[in-house]
Formats: sequence, C-alpha cells, structure tokens
Amino acid sequence: LARGSATPDLEGRHVVVSAGGTREPLDPVRFLGNRSSGKQGYALARTAAARGARVTLVAANTGLPDPAGVDVVRVGTAVQLREAVLKAAADADAVVMAAAVADFRPAAYAAGKIKKKDGQEPDPVVLVRNPDVLAEISAERPRPGQVIVGFAAETDDVLANGRAKLARKGCDLLVVNEVGERKTFGAEESEAVVLGADGSETPVPYGPKEDLADTVWDLVVRRLG
Ligand code: CTP
Ligand code: CA
Repeated sequence: LARGSATPDLEGRHVVVSAGGTREPLDPVRFLGNRSSGKQGYALARTAAARGARVTLVAANTGLPDPAGVDVVRVGTAVQLREAVLKAAADADAVVMAAAVADFRPAAYAAGKIKKKDGQEPDPVVLVRNPDVLAEISAERPRPGQVIVGFAAETDDVLANGRAKLARKGCDLLVVNEVGERKTFGAEESEAVVLGADGSETPVPYGPKEDLADTVWDLVVRRLG
C-alpha cells in the first residue's frame, strides 16, 4: 500500500503521542537530558494523522518541524510533559508514550548560573524522582476503553525485561527496542517487538520508523474495536 493512501481506520479518534526527551534544568543554562531524537514519536503522529486521527503531539525538545495537520504542544521538563499529556488524554482514545522521560530531576534549581569557586570542589548534584506518566495514566485510565502504549529500550534479556516492565507499568502494549551499536537513538530505522498485556508478541523487522508506527496503530485499532 502506497503511503498517503492509508485506510482511515483512526477517523473520529483522538490520539496523544509524546515524543523527544525531557530536559531537567540545573540552572538557566544547564540541564540533564538524553539522546532521544523524537523521530519515532513524530512518525507515530504522522501515520496516525494519515489514518484519519486527530493527533495531539506532546514534543519535548525535539527541534523537528511540526507535522502537518497535528496539534503540537511543546514542553521542556518531565513535569511539564505530564501536565500536557494528562490534559490531552482526558478525551483521547489512545495515548502513546514514545518520549524519553527523565527518571530524575535535580532537587534544586539555581536561579542564577552556577559558578566555580577557586580551589573548591563542586557541590554534588542531588536528584529526586520524576512522576511516572505512563504508570499514572495506565492506573487512572482517564477515559474508558482507552488504549495505552509505552516504549522501552532494553539490553540483556530484552523480552523478559520488557514483559516485567509491561506488567509494572500496567499499559496495554509495550514496544520493546533492543539497544546496541547501530540501534535506536537518532537512527532513521528501528527494530522492535510489541508486547501485549494479553500475552501477544508482534515482531517488527528492522525498517523505517513509519513501519513500526503503523504496526502500533494496527494493534491499537484492533483493541479499540
Ligand atoms: N515513562 C514515563 N514517565 C517516566 C519514565 C518513563 O511516562 N518518568 C514512560 C516512557 O515514556 C516509556 C515507558 O515509560 O513509554 C518506559 O520508559 P523506561 O525508561 O523504559 O521505564 P522506567 O520505568 O523508567 O524503567 P528504567 O528504570 O529501565 O528506566
Ligand atoms: Ca527510565
């Protein structure tokens, strides 16, 4: 099937996708961040729009151009991302958490730039936990019948780690990427297994992020009934 002629199987649906990586500020010029490019989340947003959905894309520090026909909400930190996702999720049929959300943030924010002092060692950076947006939304299910999807990058026993994470988060689907040399961060292509809370396992061969995105939407559509 040629792209651009997708079946409108998400017509009348509202989907929320988070993308990118959160940045947790230390002071006005510095932050703790991660290498997420946002490309997978943008591919999810584009493919959902092509399939007829109303799409809210919560974008954290991606620097990518807004996809056509998508509502983009830009956020910086995990706390801001949580607020934007919860707000958009209130009337959403599906929520896909493709963003890399920082697990921790600095306990303190310095309003002025942190300076070094002659002959003095730096202060340690103390971290506190960020809210777990995926776990929260999976527990609360803001709308009945909503389908909730998480992403996880794993090493070692990828599938076992993925299964445990799916159970811990309480979401319906978990897209598990194996991270390694050429894989995932910033790449144009990816390979994954989509685990279902119903025990299903859908392998997605190495290929464009749009293909993985379309597989995710196929599985979501099936669960929306
Ligand atoms: N996630 C989230 N909020 C967080 C951390 C993660 O919503 N504070 C979401 C991510 O968007 C992703 C999923 O949870 O969809 C899994 O993220 P991951 O970092 O793999 O899970 P963690 O529970 O943080 O596990 P780990 O200790 O392996 O990082
Ligand atoms: Ca994490």
